[in-house]
Amino acid sequence: MQELSVRHLLGIKDITANDIQLIFETADNFKDVLNRPIKKVPSLRDITIANVFFENSTRTRLSFELAEKRLSADVINFSSSGSSVKKGETLLDTVNNILAMKVDMIVMRHSSPGAPHFLSRHIDANIVNAGDGTHEHPTQALLDSFSIREKLGDVAGKKVVIIGDILHSRVALSNIFALQKLGAEVMVCGPVTLLPKYIKELGVKVELDVRKALEWCDVANVLRIQLERQQMKYFPSLREYTLYYGIDKKMLDSLDKEIVLMHPGPINRGVELSSDAADSHHSIILNQVENGVAIRMAVLYLLASKQ
Ligand code: CP
Repeated sequence: MQELSVRHLLGIKDITANDIQLIFETADNFKDVLNRPIKKVPSLRDITIANVFFENSTRTRLSFELAEKRLSADVINFSSSGSSVKKGETLLDTVNNILAMKVDMIVMRHSSPGAPHFLSRHIDANIVNAGDGTHEHPTQALLDSFSIREKLGDVAGKKVVIIGDILHSRVALSNIFALQKLGAEVMVCGPVTLLPKYIKELGVKVELDVRKALEWCDVANVLRIQLERQQMKYFPSLREYTLYYGIDKKMLDSLDKEIVLMHPGPINRGVELSSDAADSHHSIILNQVENGVAIRMAVLYLLASKQ
């Protein structure tokens, strides 16, 4: 059996193109399973997984939980709100107490960049990063590239623009690493205040004009403005952001070419995307969500064999 080169999935930066291809091939098989009347396999029977979420989530938390249940794992869910974290318990104490209950794998979302990397130096269980602050969101990038591959046949050679709040986005960084490892050309587009100063060092193109970016690309991955992470004003108002960077269906239709529209969710309808764009034939947003379950099944299955 082929194996991943890592025993934790902390970020796309740490894995190889071969790892990504192995995850995709494994996810292809699990996607077949998910389309059967009985959507469950016994692959992770006797494995216990804790989903440990210190930050809000809808898609990632539910998708991991469903992936674990489809693999027949035992699952426990921890949310920091309502927990003893509120009484001052540390991250490491919290996780060590969960592991004392004979848990084998930890799926963790945390607001601090590097939190899962810190844990990986102190515990033996496999760790999957479900988003660490503004740093990485590896399973989101995997499901995004998997969805491009499904829609366009391959990721290599495709032109992908990531539009919006690049500065505060873990989805952007993980997508840049994944797309480049798979041979895509990557552009970022947004107001200059929402582009990190180091961005060109990552080997991406930079475009400030959203119309030009859309004309260049095969795929547009549109991101939310992350107001909850912004400590200062990066643009005058949401209304002005929408005026210059908002995308609607009329704009997409006027490009006179096929374009694939993506968004990791949650969408702020009427800000970065109009409803008629988000729900148009250009959009594969719900396909991304569907593919997330197969991708997370593949990641958990492959990591479990590295115990
Ligand atoms: N895409 C994503 O991470 O969504 P959630 O925050 O709802 O998990």
